[in-house]
Amino acid sequence: MAVVSAKEMLLKAHKEGYGVAQININNLEWIKAVLTTVEELKSPVILGVSEGAAKYMGGYKTVMAMVHALDAFYNVSVPVAVHLDHGTYEGAYKALEAGFTSIMFDGSHYPFEENLAKTKEIVAACHAKGVSVEAEVGAIGGEEDGVIGGGEIADPKECKLIAATGVDMFAAGIGNIHGKYPANWKGLNFEVLKEVQDVTGGVPLVLHGGTGIPAEMVQKAISLGVSKINVNTELQLVFAEATRKYIEEGKDLVGKGFDPRKLLAPGYEAMKKTIKEKIEVFGSANKA
Ligand code: 13P
Repeated sequence: MAVVSAKEMLLKAHKEGYGVAQININNLEWIKAVLTTVEELKSPVILGVSEGAAKYMGGYKTVMAMVHALDAFYNVSVPVAVHLDHGTYEGAYKALEAGFTSIMFDGSHYPFEENLAKTKEIVAACHAKGVSVEAEVGAIGGEEDGVIGGGEIADPKECKLIAATGVDMFAAGIGNIHGKYPANWKGLNFEVLKEVQDVTGGVPLVLHGGTGIPAEMVQKAISLGVSKINVNTELQLVFAEATRKYIEEGKDLVGKGFDPRKLLAPGYEAMKKTIKEKIEVFGSANKA
């Protein structure tokens, strides 16, 4: 299937009460692991690309070329969106120009009026090309690729105004954090989540910081209007762990075990397993 906007897949998920995974990608292995797994499970998916990851992969156009080519190579039949994660104002336009099918403009660090004005402008530019848009109010905590957030709880009044710009999905800080959660984490703030869904008029909500949130908490968030759950760190962790085990067991020293096609295989399989588990928890298998 052609690479598509995230709008329809999220409206369907919101209506039918399941979540679509945004899996952040880092290189060829990541893209292959996601595309082959979602095709096996007949699940829609969103490939998340941070500005740092895009730079690492050789720019936005390289990312799109890789995704299109692999989508065709694996005969992918499920809907796949390529989404800029935590885009800056400039990055949003560059990704749009390169053919991304979905854009997050993260203006949460701007004064509110500026976030509102810039979101409005980016919605108009993206919608003119059939590209979906995610906005954010209340910075998500933790650090992701140099984007550092304070872990704020979003102000529902601000959420209402930003959602009214016509965004297709909406991220609000509800106590979620990028990266690992500390042992004393208080959990998601479901009261704020409910209020945000009320004031935003039923726009599909996004849960950032999907790594390490217990399955029941994610499922409760889905029941309250979350339709997209972002997962990044968890895949990096399972990839690193499986690769370390392979090397610590000395397998790279046996025969041609140093061949990257062998060396990276355990990490690749570990990512596929984690993606499968996430899709099962989010309920999007057979929903393509
Ligand atoms: P984690 O790295 O905590 O899974 O968060 C991913 C994310 O929210 C991407 O925007």
